[in-house]
This record gives sequence, C-alpha cells and structure tokens, in this order.
Amino acid sequence: MRTFNIAVIPGDGIGPEVVSEAVRVLDTAASLSQDFALNYEILDWNCTYYLQHGQMMPDNGLTILQNFDAIFLGAIGFPTVPDHVSLWGLLLPIRRTFDQYVNLRPGQLLPGVDGPLRRFHTGDLDFIIVRENTEGEYSNMGGRLREGTEHEVVIQNNVFTRYGTERIIRYAFELARTRRHKLTSATKSNGINFSMPFWDDIFHLVGKEYPDVTQELVHIDALAARFITDPDTLDVVVGSNLFGDILSDIGGAIQGGIGMAPAANINPTKQYPSMFEPVHGSAPTIVGKHLANPVGQILTAKMMVDFLGFPEIGSLISESVSATLSQEIKTPDLGGHATTDQVTNTVIQLMQQLWKKR
Ligand code: NAD
Ligand code: IPM
Ligand code: MN
Repeated sequence: MRTFNIAVIPGDGIGPEVVSEAVRVLDTAASLSQDFALNYEILDWNCTYYLQHGQMMPDNGLTILQNFDAIFLGAIGFPTVPDHVSLWGLLLPIRRTFDQYVNLRPGQLLPGVDGPLRRFHTGDLDFIIVRENTEGEYSNMGGRLREGTEHEVVIQNNVFTRYGTERIIRYAFELARTRRHKLTSATKSNGINFSMPFWDDIFHLVGKEYPDVTQELVHIDALAARFITDPDTLDVVVGSNLFGDILSDIGGAIQGGIGMAPAANINPTKQYPSMFEPVHGSAPTIVGKHLANPVGQILTAKMMVDFLGFPEIGSLISESVSATLSQEIKTPDLGGHATTDQVTNTVIQLMQQLWKKR
C-alpha cells in the first residue's frame, strides 16, 4: 500500500464547498481500494488569507508545496481582491514554478445531462483540450508606463519558446495516438503574424513524426464556432495558453455547464508535483447556497487518482458519477433539484455498490 501526501487548497467561493465533497469521494476510493492512502494537508491560502497577510500564500509557499505528491485545488479569486493579484499571487505561480506545462481538460456529454446542443446525446462528445500552461499570452512580461495619464502606454508581451511550443504539441500528438488519432490545433496565423505562424511551423514539423494522426490547423475564431456546431468532430485539441483557456469554457458549456468540467495541470516529468483543479472558478454568486455542482471537482479527483497510478479506481469514480446523473440526481445548473452534498452522497453509494460487483 502506498501513501500519498496531498496538499489541498480549497481556495475561494465555492472552492471549499466542492473540494470537501471531492475529498469524501477520494476517501471512499482509498478505503475501497486499500492499495493506497491519502494524507491531506489543508492550506488556507485564498483571498481571506490575502486580506489578513497582504499576500496569497506565505513567502515559502512554493517550497512547502514542492514536497507533496500532488496538489488538489478548488478555485481562487473573490471580488474582495483584484483577480490579477489573487491569481498571480497563487495559482499561476504554482503552474509556472512547477512547470505544469500541460493543462488537460477533457469533455464528454454524460448520461442524464441535457447539453445545450440538442443534436448531441450521451456518447456523442469526447474531446480533450491540451492547453499550454506556462507561457504564451500569460507571460508576466510587460508593464504600464505613465499610468493613469492620457499618455499611458501598456505592453503585454506574448512569449512563445521553441522548447515550450514543441513539447506541448508533441504531448498532444502522443495523446492523440492513445485515442482516435486526430489532432486539431488552434491557431490565428492570419491576424497574429509572428507567434502563430511560428506555432503552425512547429505543428507541421512535429506532425511529420506522426503520419498516423490526422492533423488540422483551425483558426481560433472558426474553432470556437466548431465547438458549438460540430464538437463531435473533435478528438484532441491543442492550443496556446489563452486559446486553450477560452476553448475549455466552451467545452464546459457544451457538456451541460462549466461545473461539469474537470482539469489537471500536469508536469509530465514528475520533477514537481502536478495540480488538479477543475475548469470553473469560485462562482461567488452561488456561494453558501448548496447549489454548486461538485461533478467537475469530483472528476478532477478522478484525474488525480489516475495520475497517481490507480486507473481502476479512477473509472469507478467516473462510472459512479455517470450513474448518479442517469438517476437524475443533479444540481440546478443541470436542471436538477439536488444539493451539492446529495449528488456526492449518491456518487459515494454507487461507488460502494459498483465496487462490490467487480
Ligand atoms: P466561474 O467559473 O466562477 O463562474 C462562471 C459561471 O458558472 C457563473 O454563473 C457560476 O455561477 C457558474 N459556475 C461555476 N462553477 C459552477 C459549479 N461548480 N456549479 C454551478 N455553477 C457554477 O467564472 P468567473 O465568474 O469568470 O470567475 C469567478 C472568480 O473565479 C474570479 O475571481 C475568477 O478569476 C476566478 N476563477 C478561478 C479559477 C481557478 O482558480 N481555477 C478559474 C476560473 C475563474
Ligand atoms: C482557468 C482560469 C485561470 C486561467 C484564471 C483564473 C487565471 O480561467 O484555470 O481556466 O486563465 O488559467
Ligand atoms: Mn479559464
């Protein structure tokens, strides 16, 4: 039996509400499997911490995190602190310092969920977004000159390195080989005339090594539309940091809502801990109302369990989520009447039942 140390950062808004539900699922998973145990350390780093301490985490926060096997995070950001301060004070430094260069965001239309696209039904959608997670448009390079004056100048640089671009595109090609052998790359090489033609060049170059994978470059505007009109034509989709971010909210919406969408920030080398957090944010307007859909966070827990090496338990979690939704146990964002914890309770019961049958 292996024991893993997990840093848990519930964060802000509905983050703590969905994280505590997903931790109950993880506890059930560990006790059923008996192949692994999880030791949690809960870290209260969030916007409240910021208001008390003037920073989102302690000075040695990243050093503390470095020693964990994984980080399990809810959401960061609340109206009490400007978003660029809270996110650049915690979430984005974790992704970058731990070189979590792959942001994986899978999407499926699960049973019992009526997506907004009436033409598509359970099983029709199965895509995964591979988002570059350390550079691109989220460069932290630039500045504001003559701030607040009529002569203000603002520069935000995009940074695309050959190393960073090549490795994310290669990761996406490798992933496509394990799925339906199709890779779609988001570009904008018509309007953005340095970084995107470069991105396309690397896509073609790496693509030569994968003749068995069908490959296409689609401009981000057209691709955003295709996520709505023909999402069943998408398998693996690779994009820069910002393009991948935007596509993953559309991906969430077409799965029934962003509360459904799981995600993982992966450092494939395992030199640093990876971080597991859903696509959605802290949803400040629904806090404390038992309305938060826990499915995105629970499926994020499944991705963590898979990553730690227990895919059988990972599928137990996802099968139990599907079975729960099939029984119409779902939160109001999906048109249901269940509370956050009622959904989780059913998931846990089904995990126990399905495990007995294995
Ligand atoms: P959001 O994802 O929090 O909310 C968008 C919409 O989806 C809202 O209507 C919200 O109520 C709904 N929603 C989100 N998650 C839900 C869930 N689990 N169940 C039911 N409904 C859900 O995005 P936003 O409003 O742009 O951002 C709010 C805050 O969260 C901001 O501070 C933002 O910066 C932050 N944020 C953090 C993360 C993260 O930490 N990973 C991700 C996105 C946004
Ligand atoms: C996400 C979020 C973050 C991002 C924000 C909160 C910085 O939107 O994880 O998708 O843009 O990466
Ligand atoms: Mn986002």
